[in-house]
Amino acid sequence: MWKFFAKKNKNANINIKIDMSNIPSHIAIIMDGNGRWAKERNLPRSMGHKAGVETIREIVKECNKIGVKYLTLYAFSTENWKRPPDEVNTLMKLLVEYLRKEVEELHSNNVKINTIGDIQELPKVCIEQLKEARNKTQHNKGLVLNLALNYGGRDEILRGMKLLYEDVKKGIVSIESINESKFSNYLYTKGMPDPDLIIRPSGEQRLSNFLIWQCAYSEFWYSTIKWPDFKKEHIHKAIYDYQNRDRRFGGVESE
Ligand code: IPE
Ligand code: IPE
Ligand code: MG
Repeated sequence: MWKFFAKKNKNANINIKIDMSNIPSHIAIIMDGNGRWAKERNLPRSMGHKAGVETIREIVKECNKIGVKYLTLYAFSTENWKRPPDEVNTLMKLLVEYLRKEVEELHSNNVKINTIGDIQELPKVCIEQLKEARNKTQHNKGLVLNLALNYGGRDEILRGMKLLYEDVKKGIVSIESINESKFSNYLYTKGMPDPDLIIRPSGEQRLSNFLIWQCAYSEFWYSTIKWPDFKKEHIHKAIYDYQNRDRRFGGVESE
């Protein structure tokens, strides 16, 4: 039903040719604008979230196809509990529905499902479904689909600090040996590369507590397109722009 309300994308450019030898390893997306998308169409916010799930399907498929190694999707922040309970319930239900419907296909496409964030605080049915999805896909070697759920960057850093402190107390780690890379191992993203590219649709230009440690040198890409209208062409445009930037990491311009 939401499809009747989808507008033709103005900004999508299907002719963009991305360099397949320089695909960002890790793309992270702040999936934003579902509510405003629905409001523009006089629909309840829940319809915007439903339409947003369709975008997830398309984008996961495309990222896997073009060889992205990690795709992190910001699905529910530690601050999103402030929303009305009805909306929170809708989001949790959509998560369970998405996993139930998609896990088989994701598995057959070699996608490995992972989560970042404190999922213990989610409803039991979500925890169960996530565990099942993770277990089923744990040996897959294709795209790692990282779902950020009850995720907050500050929360992650605090949690990491506490875990590290425990290891210091036990004598497993010495204070002197702590450095950036060691500390990274205490974060949810342990073992993953930092995001190369962070994408935020919907026009907002802020991080909203997303991957604040990891994005120190990420490239940002913003668009006014709302998440339900976001298509694979937009991913291509974001990657194209990324490929035309000079990542200096504090050094000097590359030749
Ligand atoms: C993103 O869309 C979905 C979640 C935060 C879970 P929003 O619901 O934030 O949509 P807007 O920003 O109100 O348009
Ligand atoms: C960020 O979007 C969180 C997710 C996309 C899950 P929000 O819509 O919650 O962020 P703010 O409130 O606009 O900063
Ligand atoms: Mg929002």
